[in-house]
Amino acid sequence: MASSTPNVYLFSTLFLLLISFSFAQVSFRPKALILPVVKDTATLQYVTQINQRTPLLPIRLTVDLGGQFLWVDCDSAAYVSSSYRQARCGSAQCSLAKSGACGGGICGLFPDNTITRTGSYGEVGDDIVALQSTDGSNPGPIVTIPHFIFTCAPTFLLQGLASKVNGMVGLARTRIALPSQFAAAFSFHRKFAVCLSSSSTSNGVIFFGDGPYMLLPNIDASKSLIYTPLIINPVSTAGVYGLGEPSDEYFIGVKSIKINEKRVPLNASLLSIDNNGFGGTKISTVNPYTTLETSIYKAFSEAFIREATSRNITRAAPVAPFDVCFSSKRIGSTRVGPAVPWVDLVLQSENVYWRIFGANSMVYVNDDVVCLAFVDGGSNPRTSIVIGGYQLEDNLLQFDLATSRLGFSSSLLFRRTTCANFNFTSNV
Ligand SMILES: *[C@@H]1O[C@H](CO)[C@@H](O)[C@H](O)[C@H]1NC(C)=O
Ligand SMILES: *[C@@H]1O[C@H](CO)[C@@H](O)[C@H](O)[C@H]1NC(C)=O
Ligand SMILES: *[C@@H]1O[C@H](CO)[C@@H](O)[C@H](O)[C@H]1NC(C)=O
Repeated sequence: MASSTPNVYLFSTLFLLLISFSFAQVSFRPKALILPVVKDTATLQYVTQINQRTPLLPIRLTVDLGGQFLWVDCDSAAYVSSSYRQARCGSAQCSLAKSGACGGGICGLFPDNTITRTGSYGEVGDDIVALQSTDGSNPGPIVTIPHFIFTCAPTFLLQGLASKVNGMVGLARTRIALPSQFAAAFSFHRKFAVCLSSSSTSNGVIFFGDGPYMLLPNIDASKSLIYTPLIINPVSTAGVYGLGEPSDEYFIGVKSIKINEKRVPLNASLLSIDNNGFGGTKISTVNPYTTLETSIYKAFSEAFIREATSRNITRAAPVAPFDVCFSSKRIGSTRVGPAVPWVDLVLQSENVYWRIFGANSMVYVNDDVVCLAFVDGGSNPRTSIVIGGYQLEDNLLQFDLATSRLGFSSSLLFRRTTCANFNFTSNV
């Protein structure tokens, strides 16, 4: 009797081990996930691709860092899937989606085309989504999320998006944006990182989950980041929202701007967010270039011109959409782009700043002319500074939703790599 107990114990341990081995094979738990992102030259949108539906279909989507969720064109002909499920009013999906609308027993949300600033209404549903996992260095197995929540939109909402795009993918701080749904599905940290490539032919990358974020040749872009708090704008920036809802977008606290380490004189009150949600600085992938409120833009471009011309750089006629252009003749080139004055966005203290070098501040419009890649955002914009895609390229930005913190790398060109250097080449 006494000897039977260990045997039974041994047997059940082996049995459990066998079960857990076979279980581990079917339910591989990834450390992180990756999506490729390419720049569309016609629209300057950043476009990714994700597999959705049964049978799985690759769907092209415009990336919207501040977007609240995934929305796709579901008009019957466009959407065919045997695994699609509508979200019944009162269901867990509807409450996760914070849907306040119900029509025909199905809850709904208001998808925004944030490029054209057009909104609509669409039902909430879920379907299978599949994407590549990674160990941080190389692509790993494809993983699936069987019930990924998204919103359907009518076909007209696609107007203004890049060619063959089916919707927009939101990375904002909501529970149903990609970062939170992926983190919940695989129990990893609510962190993600965006690394946009300046190339229209090589993929940049979005990592979901924590680092390492390895870029060839063996550079971990999650190391030596500079951190700044993410700020909550108390008033929603969505097309449709309820009273008292904060914005789900990513704001940071720019306190001043310097050019060649000289402070640009600005009306500082424009840099903070007021009670109505106006002012401040946000980061956006749907603005191709950084926009500055008119008075900031004027002071900024005058200071930049003064610094550039004092170095014998000569002005050239403007080339739309830019007002400030220079002859490229006397502009040298460096590893981090054209040798022009540095632009610093000064953050929570004088020694924490986001330095923008020529590769991110200047655009070659042709061989002879190079323009300052910032545009006038008008005299009473909702947000005073919107840091746009061009200024983000070949910089890694890590968003930590749990600690509400942004980590940024500044130009990766300094470290002899680019955002196009993730090894997407899978040997499977
Ligand atoms: C600074 O900006 C605030 C907010 O727009 C405005 O109310 C104020 O009049 C501006 N101050 C100056 C000196 O222009
Ligand atoms: C600017 O150009 C003038 C005339 O070519 C030259 O004498 C001067 O040294 C240059 N200054 C700088 C800062 O390069
Ligand atoms: C890229 O990843 C693949 C698959 O893991 C691997 O075989 C290949 O050697 C990697 N390429 C480089 C340049 O590291």
